[in-house]
Amino acid sequence: MYIDPPFFSNRNYQAQCTETGTVRSFSDNWGGMQSYIEWLKPRVEQLYRVLKPNGTLFLHCDWHADAYIRVLILDPIFGSANFINHIAWCYSTGGKSKTTFGKKHDTLFWYAKGNTWTFNADKVKIEMRSGNKSFGGRLCTDDEGRQYRLVYGSKNKQGETRYYKYYLDEGKTPEDWWTDINSLQASSTERLQYPTQKPESLLERIILAATNPNDVVLDPCVGSGTSVAVANSLGRQWIGIDQSVDAIAVTEKRLQQQDENIVFERINWL
Ligand SMILES: C[S@@+](CC[C@H](N)C(=O)[O-])C[C@H]1O[C@@H](n2cnc3c(N)ncnc32)[C@H](O)[C@@H]1O
Repeated sequence: MYIDPPFFSNRNYQAQCTETGTVRSFSDNWGGMQSYIEWLKPRVEQLYRVLKPNGTLFLHCDWHADAYIRVLILDPIFGSANFINHIAWCYSTGGKSKTTFGKKHDTLFWYAKGNTWTFNADKVKIEMRSGNKSFGGRLCTDDEGRQYRLVYGSKNKQGETRYYKYYLDEGKTPEDWWTDINSLQASSTERLQYPTQKPESLLERIILAATNPNDVVLDPCVGSGTSVAVANSLGRQWIGIDQSVDAIAVTEKRLQQQDENIVFERINWL
């Protein structure tokens, strides 16, 4: 599951579609933190209820409420022992403050329901650079001409220093801070004029890492449909939910552009 709810930013989000002229919007205004938590918590409880025993949830948020969400919602519902990662998705676009460090990352909390979950590290390897940005250690070349980083670890019981070899051409599993995925630029061809739309490459990493082909991806705040479009293109099943009829229309159109024969089962509770 992936949920990218309103972040408690106390703003209204709007974007006008240049093609149709329609305004796509959602409100992120709350009476205070308590009412925001009272809104989000029962929704996460329902997600937990329908999550498979070996399933996981990524909750996307930012500095506005991340501490509250972890302590008041995720730990009580999932149990703090089922916390997997706190990922910082870093980007550098937008305005710069003159009085603070720029608030330029979002938070992704990753929790499991049980003791086992999918983590396909091999599917999300990133380039290991030859500079010292990827690892410390010494850059060496083996007899076949392959470059590797030689990193010394702690001593074993016999007092021998352990060392690790990381071959550059094998790439590496990303750490829990992601700086290689940019937020959507104004000129991006992915852009659907949906406010707060997330980049497909972000969802690609999440879905490739945490699911296998044919698994079900559920997004209860689907917006422009980024998660379900990526899930669909990666051969996963998917369920998208949104309170906004416009969001569902944008999502359907996006999926139809991927596959014109796609069949939707649309359920309205309104
Ligand atoms: C941050 S946006 C999601 C953006 C999305 N990840 C994307 O890439 O386009 C949040 C979405 O949550 C939806 N939303 C807000 N309240 C909701 C609710 N009670 N139930 C379902 N969706 C809701 C909004 O309509 C909006 O589309």
